[in-house]
Amino acid sequence: MKAVILAGGTGTRLKPLTFWNNKHLLPVGRYPMICYGIAKLREAGIRDIVLVTSRSAIGDFADVLGSGRDWGVSIIYRVQEEAGGIAQALELANPVILPGERLVVLLGDNLFEQSLRPFAEAFERQSEGAMVLLKEVQDPRRYGVPKLEEEGSRIAFIEEKPEAPLSPYCVTGIYFYPYEVFDIIDKVKPSERGEMEITDVNNVFARNLQLQYRILEGWWTDAGTFESLEEAGQQLRGELP
Ligand code: DAU
Repeated sequence: MKAVILAGGTGTRLKPLTFWNNKHLLPVGRYPMICYGIAKLREAGIRDIVLVTSRSAIGDFADVLGSGRDWGVSIIYRVQEEAGGIAQALELANPVILPGERLVVLLGDNLFEQSLRPFAEAFERQSEGAMVLLKEVQDPRRYGVPKLEEEGSRIAFIEEKPEAPLSPYCVTGIYFYPYEVFDIIDKVKPSERGEMEITDVNNVFARNLQLQYRILEGWWTDAGTFESLEEAGQQLRGELP
């Protein structure tokens, strides 16, 4: 299984810190944020990583991570010219993934405690479709929120940042996909805010009854706001897995 880490975007909610620095390179404890995602993948035995980021930040990522050698992984870089959405960023990994290969996708601002290994193993056993990780949260309205099927471990559909959430869970930025995800992305149209939404991609799997879920245990945050960035620093205290 290969991994894709998405570390583009504009980091709007963290301005002015992100005027001169990509969000995923901001310090969390003793390391730049991106290092935690890399370490989580390595811990799960996933060493081939595609890192997608913006043109202005790519040199900074190369300064920190290089080829990945010093971090025990191998990194291929792809440039997202404009922040056109999570699904658009993922599409850029297509030339690097071989037909039939499976992938785990991490949003670079998602920081978490639990090992990815059991989920990667569960996905290898899954015969078809995709799998996402969910987390129960205080305010689901900030996230993609799943409506769960009553039986089994399948998602009926996902609403992006709903006014009235249909469950107390958020869809975390940890996604497991088959190679066919790229065919789905090809057909997705930009949303009203002009972005290619990962939720639209996931909803195609859901409509085909092919979107499984697992619950992520332990601590999790998306460090996209000042509060969550500070919390991440306190939780992680610079310890890499
Ligand atoms: O963190 C989980 C949430 O992430 C999910 O619950 C939502 O369903 C999902 O849409 C996403 O919501 P956000 O509002 O947090 O997405 P954001 O625009 O902040 O982007 C999240 C990450 O994706 C960020 O770390 C950088 C990357 N990204 C984003 C965009 C828009 C890219 O690499 N390129 C992009 O164009």
